[in-house]
Amino acid sequence: MKPLALDKFKQGVADFYDRRSRSYDQGQWHPQICDRLLEYARIGAGQTVLDIGTGTGYLAIASAQRVGDQGHVTGVDISPGMLQQAQRKIQRLGLSNVVVQRADAEALDYPSHHFDVILCAHTFPWMTDKAATLRLWYQLLKPRGRIAVHTPADTAYIGAVVLRRVLAEYGLELEPSNRLGSIEQCRQLFEKAGFEAVEIYTEQHGSYTTLDQAKAIWESVVVNPSITAPKVVGDGRSRFSATELGKIKAELYAELEALQTEQGLWNDLTTVYILADKPEPYCG
Ligand SMILES: C[S@@+](CC[C@H](N)C(=O)[O-])C[C@H]1O[C@@H](n2cnc3c(N)ncnc32)[C@H](O)[C@@H]1O
Repeated sequence: MKPLALDKFKQGVADFYDRRSRSYDQGQWHPQICDRLLEYARIGAGQTVLDIGTGTGYLAIASAQRVGDQGHVTGVDISPGMLQQAQRKIQRLGLSNVVVQRADAEALDYPSHHFDVILCAHTFPWMTDKAATLRLWYQLLKPRGRIAVHTPADTAYIGAVVLRRVLAEYGLELEPSNRLGSIEQCRQLFEKAGFEAVEIYTEQHGSYTTLDQAKAIWESVVVNPSITAPKVVGDGRSRFSATELGKIKAELYAELEALQTEQGLWNDLTTVYILADKPEPYCG
């Protein structure tokens, strides 16, 4: 494996998930998404699987149980804290056909044509160069191999959607790499990397949220940023006076307030599943 050299952004992502690692498994939502992705991936006995952004190892472990003794699963992640949780579970279950390794999903150096299936749940938005990353993952798959990716749609998370819109008026982009575009753009991204039979399914996991929760995006992204700091307002902040920042904040709050209903604010959580195959080489 290449030595891990994380830039500031990726180090921020790794630190963020390190902090979340101990409580990450408490939620019900991630297992639900992972189970659906597994259904779509159609993993069979004896297969070789790569789980990208394996986190606490839910998908890697479930895949290991599916591929059996003749198969093998590798999980990769940049967060040592998340990997530690995964490793504990693997040891507790006594599984010998799954390993987790610290590696950057954008700089993997496994042999070409090595994996039957690549899985990636809730991690793809973190890839900074999505087109190049997909080309790399394509290379790692065997011909007729399958990729199964889950990701939230760009319409997800009301606070982020509105903040993105408001910042755009001031010439600022809210973490531009952390987006997929429309479903059609997403399909094109996979097809350009060489994948075929691209199928995309969406599911709605949204719910109503409170105005205060939606407004909290200002605190977490602008005032006290963790991951997105270098790319969001890190640059922008120096361009804006306190008065101007106050104006941007007021616009954000006003837009959110306008969206309020009796039930609260609808917090879209459209999840997207992308399934695709690597074609056989043409030998005609
Ligand atoms: C939301 S968690 C998803 C974990 C797991 N796939 C699940 O669904 O439960 C995202 C994971 O992606 C990892 N990640 C983010 N960027 C990565 C990168 N460039 N390479 C490898 N892992 C990355 C994070 O450390 C984190 O563990």
